Amino acid sequence: MGPLPECIQTARLTLRSFREEDVERFVPLIGEWEVARWLARVPHPYGLEDGRWWVARTAENRARRATLDLLAVRRADGQPVGGIGLNLDDGEVGYWLGWPHQGVGYGTEMLRAMLRVAFEDLHLPRLWAAIAPDNDRSRRVLEKTGFVTTTPDQYELTAERWRTIPQESAR
Ligand SMILES: CC(C)(COP(=O)(O)OP(=O)(O)OC[C@H]1O[C@@H](n2cnc3c(N)ncnc32)[C@H](O)[C@@H]1OP(=O)(O)O)[C@@H](O)C(=O)NCCC(=O)NCCS
Repeated sequence: MGPLPECIQTARLTLRSFREEDVERFVPLIGEWEVARWLARVPHPYGLEDGRWWVARTAENRARRATLDLLAVRRADGQPVGGIGLNLDDGEVGYWLGWPHQGVGYGTEMLRAMLRVAFEDLHLPRLWAAIAPDNDRSRRVLEKTGFVTTTPDQYELTAERWRTIPQESAR
């Protein structure tokens, strides 16, 4: 497996490690029930202490190459908009956006960037995502990026399949 990237640039976003000084800006976003309700492992309510714990935890997990967790910030003004994480052992991917930042394609943009890193740089064989049955927006994002259902609550994308997806038309 290659080195973990410090930062990933997309057209509109920078995906980079979480920092202590981000806590006050990402906690209100992930703390909204409309976001948290879809995330199996995110506590609710979510406070500053949870945010600080998360920053420390993601640094530890990165150091032992367990997960790659990145905060998505808008390139234009540095505003945090969401996050994306990849489990380097089993290939599980998870992502979220703050409510004001949904519906403009950031979800697809950050997932596509993570897929490229996972398959091209880290050489993972397969990524998967767990999903609530009624999470239609997230299903759409997974399908647009090439994932296929394996069970009613799971999607997967193999490196082999990803390489067959024309990246131009997948944008
Ligand atoms: C899932 C999530 C990241 C999607 O991000 P997003 O930036 O809003 O998604 P995009 O704009 O890239 O794409 C959404 C797609 O879903 C479609 N969509 C939106 N609402 C929909 C609905 N109710 N039913 C079906 N499709 C819907 C959009 O039209 C778009 O598809 P299109 O490009 O073909 O038009 C975001 O909604 C989110 O953070 N949700 C809460 C957390 C979450 O669910 N995380 C995933 C857990 S598996």
